[in-house]
Amino acid sequence: MPSPEIALTQRFQSAFVAAFGPEYADADPIIRPSQFADFQCNAAMGLAKRLGKKPRDIAAEILAAVDLDDIAETPEIAGPGFLNIRLRTEWIAAQAAELSADARLGIPAPAAAQTVVVDYSAPNVAKEMHVGHLRTTVVGDSIVRTLERLGHTAIRQNHIGDWGTPFGMLIEHLLEVGEDSAEATLLKTDPNAFYQAARAKFDTAEADGAAGSSEDAQDGQDGQDFASRARRRVATLQSGDAESLRIWTHLVDLSKQYFHRIYDMLDVTLTDDDLAGESSYNDQLEIVCKDLEADGVATISDGALCVFPEGFTGRDEQPLPLIIRKSDGGYGYATTDLAAIRHRVRDLGADRVAYVVGAAQELHFQMVFTAAREAGWLPESVEARHVKIGSVLGEDGKILRTRSGASLRLMALLEEAVATARTVIDELRPDLPEAEREQIAHDIGIGGVKYADLSTAHDSDYTFDLDRMLALTGNTAPYLQYAVARIRSIGRKAETQGITAAAAPRVENGAERALALQLLDFGPTLEQVGAEYEPHRLCAYLFSLAQAFTSFYEASPILKESDEELRAGRLALAQLTERVLVDGLDALGVNAPQQM
Ligand code: ARG
Repeated sequence: MPSPEIALTQRFQSAFVAAFGPEYADADPIIRPSQFADFQCNAAMGLAKRLGKKPRDIAAEILAAVDLDDIAETPEIAGPGFLNIRLRTEWIAAQAAELSADARLGIPAPAAAQTVVVDYSAPNVAKEMHVGHLRTTVVGDSIVRTLERLGHTAIRQNHIGDWGTPFGMLIEHLLEVGEDSAEATLLKTDPNAFYQAARAKFDTAEADGAAGSSEDAQDGQDGQDFASRARRRVATLQSGDAESLRIWTHLVDLSKQYFHRIYDMLDVTLTDDDLAGESSYNDQLEIVCKDLEADGVATISDGALCVFPEGFTGRDEQPLPLIIRKSDGGYGYATTDLAAIRHRVRDLGADRVAYVVGAAQELHFQMVFTAAREAGWLPESVEARHVKIGSVLGEDGKILRTRSGASLRLMALLEEAVATARTVIDELRPDLPEAEREQIAHDIGIGGVKYADLSTAHDSDYTFDLDRMLALTGNTAPYLQYAVARIRSIGRKAETQGITAAAAPRVENGAERALALQLLDFGPTLEQVGAEYEPHRLCAYLFSLAQAFTSFYEASPILKESDEELRAGRLALAQLTERVLVDGLDALGVNAPQQM
């Protein structure tokens, strides 16, 4: 079932071949929605240049060659050579009938199903997930949901920060407070507090050490200060010491419980199976360095092993290094990412890889991608994309923080969103049972926060404003959820009145036509969102769909309509709208409550 754009494109391309020759078979007819008709074909201007004729003459030639009889009325030439196209209402109705019979709601089966590895969420162990991680989690989850709907295989990779020098001090701190102490359980509820406490101890010990007051610093049982013990712990951990590894595992496990509490709260699809933290590449790092050096991709510079990827220069036009083994023998973030990308292509069979990560890491990823291409680990046939995530700002225009300056606790923020939504629904529907209001408040509160993340282009910053996120008007989750609830309520009333929907939606008046045209655009929109990783386009689509529904419902009453056939046909159109809205919201990871 082709969408109007695709159907028109095909007809115009056949016309180009007939009028101008086979070399014009792939010329883009540039079909765009039009404010003067339904669509316009804007190809005449470009073709005129290529053919050396006047655009209006070309438009006339196209018009003579194109066969649109079953789809549209005869197009009109306008302005310099636009062709305005008005679709036949019967054709739209026939397409809408097919759409409503289609379980996939017009989502085309992919020409070739791909394996897409999506790296998202990736918080750091023993540190609070902050709103920045919230955004990569929410955007990434919407991307995998969309890809799966399109028929691709999405492989989720949660590249958590579970390795590195901070683990020395974290392990020592955990040992000091006791592995089963109340303070240890902070890792499950407020991991940042645990991290800050360890950090404070470390910094104090270091400052004391630097001040030379060796007596004060001699505070450990073994006569060593906290900072030295932390440093020594990093070394024993990295050398594979069993006891250090055991405590490290305990620490990571506590943190995972925290992540999963957040994921549950957010209705995010990530599970333990998707964890592929930095530590999971440990046994690959040495091999990665060896292979890169043997292939001449990496070279020693100032004692460190570096790749100088082509095209990256720093100050004074000096080639910029990607350090993969420090002069002290340690590996870093870049080494792990090179191991990860090789694994994703070679072992996971990725056709595409997407990294949903903060925009600040752009240079890192561009260098990693280029280095991986130079190493032959990322063939040209595999697309690698950094889906850059912009910042979430507070009302002061700065990165969102609490008054004390610490980053805002994510769980507290989500709880506040649900509590605010609860006051909204309590006012809206005091008649509903308590448990149901609680569920609806969850769907609105969480949906509202997620939708705000999704509806802004992922690489732009936006201001966190709970009131706006939870508003019932505007491009918000509650507005769309309310639209669904309204259609469901019509459905319930129809059922009690014994009214059943027609097999095919009715498409006759202007509002019905406009709504049906929107519905036909669902599949192509989703396809674009999956190809370009742009959930905000799906949000914009659903918002205009809901608006088209409102206009339709004003123009075409359903239950109040006395003509039985009209009533059944309109009910079918409303219910098709409901299906598309619910499916689209689900691709975003937003639940639509049964009633509101
Ligand atoms: N843990 C990192 C951070 O919080 C993000 C990791 C992103 N993924 C990756 N493959 N580097 O900044």
